[in-house]
Amino acid sequence: MQEINIILVGYGNVGQAFVNLLNEKSPYCQKKYGLDIRLRALFDIKFSSRFNEEGSFVFPKAVTIDEILNENADAIERVRSLYWQKEKTFLNVLQTIEPGVLVECILSKNRSGKSGFKYIQQAIINKWNVVTADKEPLVHSFSELLALTKKNCVQLKLSGATAAALPTLDVALLSLAGTEIQYFEGILNGTSNYILSEMTKGMSYKSALKKAQSKGIAETNPSLDVDGWDTAYKILLLANTVFQENFTLEDIDIQGIADIDEKIINKAVKQGEKIKLLGKLWREDKIRMKVAPELIGVSHPLYGVDGTNKGITFSTDTMSDVTVTGGKSDPKGAAAALLKDIINIYRLDYS
Ligand SMILES: NC(=O)c1ccc[n+]([C@@H]2O[C@H](COP(=O)([O-])OP(=O)(O)OC[C@H]3O[C@@H](n4cnc5c(N)ncnc54)[C@H](OP(=O)(O)O)[C@@H]3O)[C@@H](O)[C@H]2O)c1
Repeated sequence: MQEINIILVGYGNVGQAFVNLLNEKSPYCQKKYGLDIRLRALFDIKFSSRFNEEGSFVFPKAVTIDEILNENADAIERVRSLYWQKEKTFLNVLQTIEPGVLVECILSKNRSGKSGFKYIQQAIINKWNVVTADKEPLVHSFSELLALTKKNCVQLKLSGATAAALPTLDVALLSLAGTEIQYFEGILNGTSNYILSEMTKGMSYKSALKKAQSKGIAETNPSLDVDGWDTAYKILLLANTVFQENFTLEDIDIQGIADIDEKIINKAVKQGEKIKLLGKLWREDKIRMKVAPELIGVSHPLYGVDGTNKGITFSTDTMSDVTVTGGKSDPKGAAAALLKDIINIYRLDYS
């Protein structure tokens, strides 16, 4: 049995779903992959604020995960009395535990990617592999982080940041190995797809957004999703990984769905068509990328992708078009993508 130490940074929706999932899947991972994946430390800015002191939770190897999950205040206090180590910094934790995988799932308020970058950078330098759901540091500093992983002989995996439960990168890098990807397009944002799906049923943009917010699908400030940025982030990360390029957001034309005219949706419905927010990459004189709402007909491979589901089509030279759909957007799906990346760092064969 191979023991794998995990440090988790960010204990919000995704971080908590990850801890729950690890608890649920631990016996399966041991039996199926021979991997004993153990949460050894937990770091979140909210604990330092709540306890009014710097520190981290550090867990001995013997602790089982069901002893430490839970957001309930009593449980946190109990766990604090047992495992909170005052003044233990993230760097200190990295340097005192046998390296395994840093799981990075913070959502920093200023969205600059700087905090996430620092965690990932420090982990890599200290020989930790990294799996992340946080797009911001990758969007701003992917090539720098990739160079660091090569220098330190560790891996950085980003399924959680590239449509999470919908396999995108794994398909492009593994399943389509040996092909040349000439074009890809995807419905990569569950929130905007949900809103457009509700509008197709006759709802106004405002009501559909409100419904998405009430169900926890859209954030209070939905701009990142409805203005197309989240889709653009994913297209950018896919392009830079698959083609080993160094594109920036400025290379993508971005248009969201916030200004979409409801009459256009109604007209599409009457014609048996749908409006979808598509992120696209194609080749002309050079690689081009855009995010925009587009009209698609019933024969389009992504026509049936509704609600919070997502989908992507890769167009290749030797395997023609390959489409993957599904991968509902939610914290559990994101957590599952993080776990998948951890397993795939360590598994030695695919039987
Ligand atoms: N939710 C999803 O379904 C989903 C799916 C795919 C990917 N993602 C990505 O996964 C990440 C986490 O999403 P989430 O929904 O779990 O967000 P969340 O619920 O807001 O959780 C993020 C956690 O990170 C903490 N945090 C913020 N800045 C920090 C820092 N500098 N150091 C340590 N902790 C910090 C936050 O504390 P405070 O609350 O005190 O700020 C919060 O507890 C995001 O990058 C998101 O884009 C989310």
